[in-house]
Amino acid sequence: MSRRTVLITGASSGIGEAFAEVFASHGFDLVLVARREERLRAVADAATSRHGVVAHVIGADLAGRDAAQRISDELTARGLAVDALVNNAGYGVPGTFLVPAWAQHEAQMQVMMVALVELTYRLLPAMIARRYGRIINVASLAGLVPAPGGHTLYAASKAFVIRYSESLAHEVRGAGVNVTALCPGFTLSEFHDRTGTRERVSTLPSWLWMDAPTVARQGYEAVMAGRSVYINGLVNRTIAGLAGCLPNAIVSMVSRRSARLYRK
Ligand SMILES: NC(=O)c1ccc[n+]([C@@H]2O[C@H](COP(=O)([O-])OP(=O)(O)OC[C@H]3O[C@@H](n4cnc5c(N)ncnc54)[C@H](OP(=O)(O)O)[C@@H]3O)[C@@H](O)[C@H]2O)c1
Repeated sequence: MSRRTVLITGASSGIGEAFAEVFASHGFDLVLVARREERLRAVADAATSRHGVVAHVIGADLAGRDAAQRISDELTARGLAVDALVNNAGYGVPGTFLVPAWAQHEAQMQVMMVALVELTYRLLPAMIARRYGRIINVASLAGLVPAPGGHTLYAASKAFVIRYSESLAHEVRGAGVNVTALCPGFTLSEFHDRTGTRERVSTLPSWLWMDAPTVARQGYEAVMAGRSVYINGLVNRTIAGLAGCLPNAIVSMVSRRSARLYRK
């Protein structure tokens, strides 16, 4: 059997970097995508020296409208076939809805929804033709619980990713392609530095946090097992379960009050 290849977006840090290590440890060659090419190169070199895999780097800003098309063209030019796709790149935009310039909202929706869907649209046909595909869309616990105010489009975009993934999983079942929406809760990465909430979230209890390698390992196991939605960790599963069965008014109130602890 020829070697498998995984393409991972947002592989220059955090959960995406951890996914590179997990897939490489299972013998997948890597295509790593993000803006910081030097960081990608370091992740690629580490995977090659630890696991002997071939690792490619594609520098791309997924906020660009032609990003998915350019990545797809680059794969063709390099003769690379993608067997697994991890749509992981993402970030939160601090502030309430009218604070950021419109361009920031537009870029966030492009990265977290449009690029994710378009990359899948462009890579899925070859997976179906080869009757093998593994797609992980990194969503969030935030997409499963009522959203508080602030970082307004973040939870909405993650809810979109979860519903979209569930639907796609049904469509491609039987074609050898597994689709998983991965829903981590608080995870140690650069995420909270980017959103400017590091100081605030550092007061949260340690039992709320998971590390990126564990999140990625569980994501790998979930997609291989054909789970369409996977929530990382017992604490996050309990929160999602309670949010699903308690009256919405209570859940919304708790969500609104607790948001002060981690939103800006
Ligand atoms: N950390 C958490 O608590 C948490 C919880 C639930 C879900 N998540 C989700 O997990 C995913 C990974 O986040 P993380 O926690 O690992 O955060 P992170 O360490 O900040 O990593 C984010 C990654 O996304 C990439 N990225 C951001 N904007 C991009 C753009 N315009 N074009 C290309 N790549 C871009 C970054 O690469 P460059 O800057 O090099 O481009 C980086 O590799 C995100 O989708 C996030 O929403 C995180």
